[in-house]
Amino acid sequence: MRISSQMEKAINDQIAYEASAINAYVATGSWCERAGYDGSAAFFFEQAVEENTHMLKFVHYLNNAEAEAIIPAIEKPQSKFDSLESTFQAALKSEQTVTKLINNLVEIAEKEKDRATYLFLQWFVSEQVEEEILFQTILQKFEIFGREKLAVYQIDQFLASIRSQVMAKKQSSS
Ligand code: FEO
Repeated sequence: MRISSQMEKAINDQIAYEASAINAYVATGSWCERAGYDGSAAFFFEQAVEENTHMLKFVHYLNNAEAEAIIPAIEKPQSKFDSLESTFQAALKSEQTVTKLINNLVEIAEKEKDRATYLFLQWFVSEQVEEEILFQTILQKFEIFGREKLAVYQIDQFLASIRSQVMAKKQSSS
């Protein structure tokens, strides 16, 4: 095995978190869809697809390191929200948790002088910076436009386009 058993377990814990993020974003998108926030629904469904790519990167990494990726059972995610704003507050909180977990993985790699895993994790370090900025930017819109029905409608319209802008930016910088 090219990685330690401690690293194998920590990455498997990360796979479990990414898997729960997929379900959480699908559930959030589903709530948005039912509430009539179509832009935000599309945004969260695409975010779930992105979380799937994160999970698969870890799965492939473990399997290619002669370790074993464990695909976990998933608990039922939150499916009811008080407002559109609260969906993005929950998303930001989740992304902040992911950032902490990624930083913890980086610390293990540093301690173990596991340079291959350290390099592999750098993509996630950058990704988390972008994810947190994205959700902070969206939450800022509620401060700017306000929380009246029309303002929230405008924010939802904004959400319909922001995801494709973010993806285009990521593709041009990769
Ligand atoms: Fe996979 Fe959004 O962190």
